Amino acid sequence: MKKILVVGASGQIGTELVIGLRKRFGKDQVIASDIAPATQDKLANGPYEELDILDNDKLSEVVNKHKIEEVYLLAALLSATAEKNPGFAWKLNMDGLFNVLNLAKEGVIKKIFWPSSIAVFGPTTPKENTPQLTIMEPSTVYGISKLAGERWCEYYAKQYNVDVRSIRYPGLISYTSLPGGGTTDYAVDIFYSAKRGEKYNCFLSKDTPLPMMYMEDAINATINLMESPIDSIKIRSSYNLGGISFTPEQIYNEIRKTNPDFEIEYQPDFRQKIADSWPGSIDDSDAKNDWGWKGEFDLGKTCQIMLENVSVEG
Ligand SMILES: NC(=O)c1ccc[n+]([C@@H]2O[C@H](COP(=O)([O-])OP(=O)(O)OC[C@H]3O[C@@H](n4cnc5c(N)ncnc54)[C@H](O)[C@@H]3O)[C@@H](O)[C@H]2O)c1
Repeated sequence: MKKILVVGASGQIGTELVIGLRKRFGKDQVIASDIAPATQDKLANGPYEELDILDNDKLSEVVNKHKIEEVYLLAALLSATAEKNPGFAWKLNMDGLFNVLNLAKEGVIKKIFWPSSIAVFGPTTPKENTPQLTIMEPSTVYGISKLAGERWCEYYAKQYNVDVRSIRYPGLISYTSLPGGGTTDYAVDIFYSAKRGEKYNCFLSKDTPLPMMYMEDAINATINLMESPIDSIKIRSSYNLGGISFTPEQIYNEIRKTNPDFEIEYQPDFRQKIADSWPGSIDDSDAKNDWGWKGEFDLGKTCQIMLENVSVEG
C-alpha cells in the first residue's frame, strides 16, 4: 500500500483530508505534517511529523523515512493574510511548491496534489459561469502566486512528466477547524454567530456572489481526482470546480429558516475588493467530463449540517 504525506495537515482542509485519506487507505499509510506541533486531536490517531515545507532537507528526510509516494501540499498563505505579507506569501506559496515538484522530477515521489483557487481569476475575467480557459489577470498576491503555481505545475507535467494534479477550490465551508484567513471565511464565521445567538458583522456586502463548496464535496473531489486513471487527467494546470454560488444575504436567509431571530449587519472591509475581483459562479464541465466530478451538497443541506455541528463551547 502506498504511503501519503499531507503537508499543512492542521489547517481547514488538511484536518478533513487526513481523515478522508486515512479512512480510504488506512491510518498508518497517511503521514500528517505541519509547521505547527500536533495539537489537532483529530490527527492524533496516526503518524505525524513537524515539518516546515521551506526546509528542503527535512522534507527529503521525512519523505525517505516513510517511503512516501504521494504528497498533498496544502501549506500556503491564504488571500486575506497574503495581502498583509506579500513577500512572505510569494516565498511560501512558490518555494513550497518547487520543493515538492522537484522531488517528483527527481523520481523520489510519484504523484502530487496541489490546490489552486478561484483567486487565479481577476476583474477582467467573465464573472458568470467562468470558463476553464479564459482571461486571467489576478489582482491579489495570493491569486498571482496561484496562477504562477498553475503554470509551473503544467510545465513540470509537460517537460518532466511529473504527475501533478490540481483543483481550483472555491471557498470551502466546514466545521471541524476554523478557516485560515481567506476572503470566503465569512461563510463559516456566520454559523458561529448564529449558534451563539449573536448578530453577525459581515465583512462583505450583502449582494456579493461567490462560489463555495461544502468540505465533504471538496475532499471527495480531491481524492477522486488523485485516484483517477492518468489518461483521464487532461488538464495539468488546475481544474475549475463550481459547487454552490450564493451571496451573504442568501446564506443569511437560509440560516433564518431555522434561526428566525438571527441578525446580520454588513460592514465591508478590504476583503470586499478581493471578492469583487473574483467570479460569482464557475463552469466545471471539464472536471465532470474528464474524471466524473459531481457535488452532493446544496446550500440548504450545507446550512443544516453546519448549524447542527458547529461547536461554540470552550
Ligand atoms: N480553505 C479554502 O477555502 C481554500 C480555497 C481555495 C484554495 N485553498 C488552498 O488550499 C490549501 C489549504 O488551505 P486551508 O484553508 O486548509 O489553509 P489553512 O491556512 O487553514 O491551513 C494551512 C496550514 O499550513 C500550515 N503551514 C503554514 N506554513 C507552513 C509551512 N511553512 N510548512 C508547513 N506547514 C505550514 C499552517 O500551520 C496550516 O495548518 C492552500 O493552498 C489554499 O490556498 C483553500
